[in-house]
Amino acid sequence: MVSLHRRLLRLLTATALTLTACVTASAGTTAEAAPGSPALTPPLGWNSWNSFGCSITEAQVRQAADAMVSSGMRDAGYQYVVVDDCWFDPQRDAAGNLRANPTKFPSGMKALGDYIHGKGLKFGIYQAPNEKTCAQGVGTYPGSTGSKGHERQDAATFASWGVDYLKYDWCSGSGTLSEQIARFTLMRDALRATGRPIVYSINPNSFHAPTGDKYDWGEVADLWRTTEDLLDIWQNNNTNSYPMGVGNVLDVTAPLAAQSGPGNWNDPDMLVVGRPGLSLTESRSHFALWSLLSAPLMAGNDIRTMSADVSAILRNPRLLAVNQDPLGAGGRRVRDDGDTEVFAKPMSDGSVAVGLFNRGVLAPARHRAPRHQAGQRH
Ligand code: GLA
Repeated sequence: MVSLHRRLLRLLTATALTLTACVTASAGTTAEAAPGSPALTPPLGWNSWNSFGCSITEAQVRQAADAMVSSGMRDAGYQYVVVDDCWFDPQRDAAGNLRANPTKFPSGMKALGDYIHGKGLKFGIYQAPNEKTCAQGVGTYPGSTGSKGHERQDAATFASWGVDYLKYDWCSGSGTLSEQIARFTLMRDALRATGRPIVYSINPNSFHAPTGDKYDWGEVADLWRTTEDLLDIWQNNNTNSYPMGVGNVLDVTAPLAAQSGPGNWNDPDMLVVGRPGLSLTESRSHFALWSLLSAPLMAGNDIRTMSADVSAILRNPRLLAVNQDPLGAGGRRVRDDGDTEVFAKPMSDGSVAVGLFNRGVLAPARHRAPRHQAGQRH
């Protein structure tokens, strides 16, 4: 009886034959890849924010890169090690160049990139299109080092450091959708002008009325956040406002499946798998759902200290194969019976990956607030 009520998503790959009746998505509905896109499948990696927030240091990033190798994540397909907000000196240099925070990142960003590349991994970094990054605008981090007016210069700096992935975060309450499109496009063009393939990951939502679900950003970026920030919460009453839970992000992102395709990924935010506010069962369901959505899978837990169970969730080979299928179709919710739902993702070989999702609650005690939120609002 109890097992009937457990939040459980079982994913199986089945032949198209057995699923033809319930799958309405066709393989021809994926978005087109941008020419030369470096993200033909959803990016797999780790990002510092959810576990370390603004206190991230170079040593921790190096250790995370080490852990990505020793845990087997690299061999499972994870590539990007992304340093989120608070890596930079609060002042640009005399020529207007960005530079590393000398206390937190004493070796500098080029050396960090070299270290990450030396592990067979790729290097990601965070920046913002306005005057301030999120930690500067709404947190207590000093300075105004956003890229506004410095787009070409900053893109060239990132390329010279060996950056392979840029997370570009609006983080301002101001700006219309067309202003956002124009500003995000400036950095897209600046990145392209470097000649270096750099995955372009944008967030048009933070501290702004969410626009990630109101416009198809595929012309502008390789991946775009669809919602406000996901924390380690199963579900709350927020539709698309901070903080989001797994179920809330799922409900905003699932209807956007048609936007998904090689070089075009709906980003339902970094994973909270293994974060303290989710049970292992919830983490498994979350990972399976993000895999079915063709979401970028950016681990946000402290992978240096994760348990064997959490490591196994992140390295699940069948789910990673579903996520990385070259067709890039977004999983669709093909049936919704309230607490039970069915998701289906067409695969390149003509089969369909299916997830049976029970989102019902077990008992009132299972509703609990997240215990620890390092990557919280400032
Ligand atoms: C915003 C973003 C987060 C993170 C922080 C950093 O909240 O949505 O993912 O990058 O800024 O300050």
